Amino acid sequence: MDPVLNPFVPGAGTQPPKMAGREDLLERTRITLERMKAGRGSKSFIVVGLRGVGKTVLLNQVYTKATELEFCAVQIEAHENKSLSALLTPQLRQILFRLDKLARASEKAKQGLRVLAAFANSLKASVGDIEFGLSIDPEIGIADSGDLEADLADLFEVVAAAAKDAGTVIVLIIDELQYLSEAEMSALIMALHRIAQRNLPLMLVGGGLPQLVGLAGNSKSYAERLFDYPEIGPLLYADTELALVDPIEHEGSTITDQAVRDIYMATKGYPYFLQTWGHFAWNISEGPEITSNDVHSASDNALSNLDESFFRVRFDRLTPTERAYLFAMAAVGPGPHRSGEIATELEKKVESVSPTRSSLIKKGMVYSPSHGDTAFTVPMFDEYLNRTKRDD
Ligand SMILES: Nc1ncnc2c1ncn2[C@@H]1O[C@H](COP(=O)(O)OP(=O)(O)O)[C@@H](O)[C@H]1O
Ligand SMILES: [Mg+2]
Repeated sequence: MDPVLNPFVPGAGTQPPKMAGREDLLERTRITLERMKAGRGSKSFIVVGLRGVGKTVLLNQVYTKATELEFCAVQIEAHENKSLSALLTPQLRQILFRLDKLARASEKAKQGLRVLAAFANSLKASVGDIEFGLSIDPEIGIADSGDLEADLADLFEVVAAAAKDAGTVIVLIIDELQYLSEAEMSALIMALHRIAQRNLPLMLVGGGLPQLVGLAGNSKSYAERLFDYPEIGPLLYADTELALVDPIEHEGSTITDQAVRDIYMATKGYPYFLQTWGHFAWNISEGPEITSNDVHSASDNALSNLDESFFRVRFDRLTPTERAYLFAMAAVGPGPHRSGEIATELEKKVESVSPTRSSLIKKGMVYSPSHGDTAFTVPMFDEYLNRTKRDD
């Protein structure tokens, strides 16, 4: 059918034509934000799930909803090679200028800018990756000790006080939270703890891979009180059906029940995959109805597209040793696997491969669903590896 009308556009963070199966979380977002608006306390939350399940599009919805409510929303993506402070500083600077305007010149916002300048200066000395020029004199003595845990709490307090003064709420949206260092995660938790104690209007909505839950480290007990960690995964059959049928019918076409079942079988309901299958089945179909045959004919295209984009980008970033570890995992099946089992497959000792496992966790490729177990963070990655191995 006409590719111009194709409703399915798989892509990281791309708004799906029909967001299926996430009603509960969207409702929870609404309630959380409305409660904040009403000045009532609300628990922050961090959406946890594998790659391609729809975490980023959910965070985008949170941003949209927050903006509708005239909150000040900040959306950032944590990064392996960039510090949390470097990511936050320019965004908070923008927010403070906005708060200053909102409150028609706010002393609190101005103080916030001075404290932010001090924070950035002191971190510039220690971290070095902050580019921050401010024509404002830094305020000496707050948020500038160089100890992130102490400074971030001070900074959040001042910024949130400025938001309160301006009658608004700050929603801090941080994606890919698993890339924070333990020290950054713990500083973030302690800063939010301070905010909760002072009952100030700032909240966190996060997203990331399952390993982020373990990052809380010593601040774990605070984290448990401060956040919920709703998990998202593949869509149920009925939601997969909705995600496919609704956009197709919207374009005046149809899809057979069998074709939907086939896509579900091929994708197991994983959102990124079903968008990909929908996309290629649409393009290959003569129309106006997408049939089971179309789905089968589209499978090669769908798979090679996933291999070239979704799977490949992750694989390309790995060292030969890391790749060998993943191949060994894939060889023993979809997982999760015991570390010993993987080491045996590699004909190595568990201790000698454990640094590789750690670096793969850091890079967001694998995680530990329970102690001593290892699983892929990318759904169906084992099948991808087994396919590419055959091609070698
Ligand atoms: N609830 C959903 N229903 C249908 N498609 C979805 C849903 N959530 C996400 N998608 C699609 O899945 C793909 C991956 O979404 P994304 O938010 O980038 O995942 P993640 O951040 O978890 O890796 C995107 O193409 C998106 O449009
Ligand atoms: Mg994402």
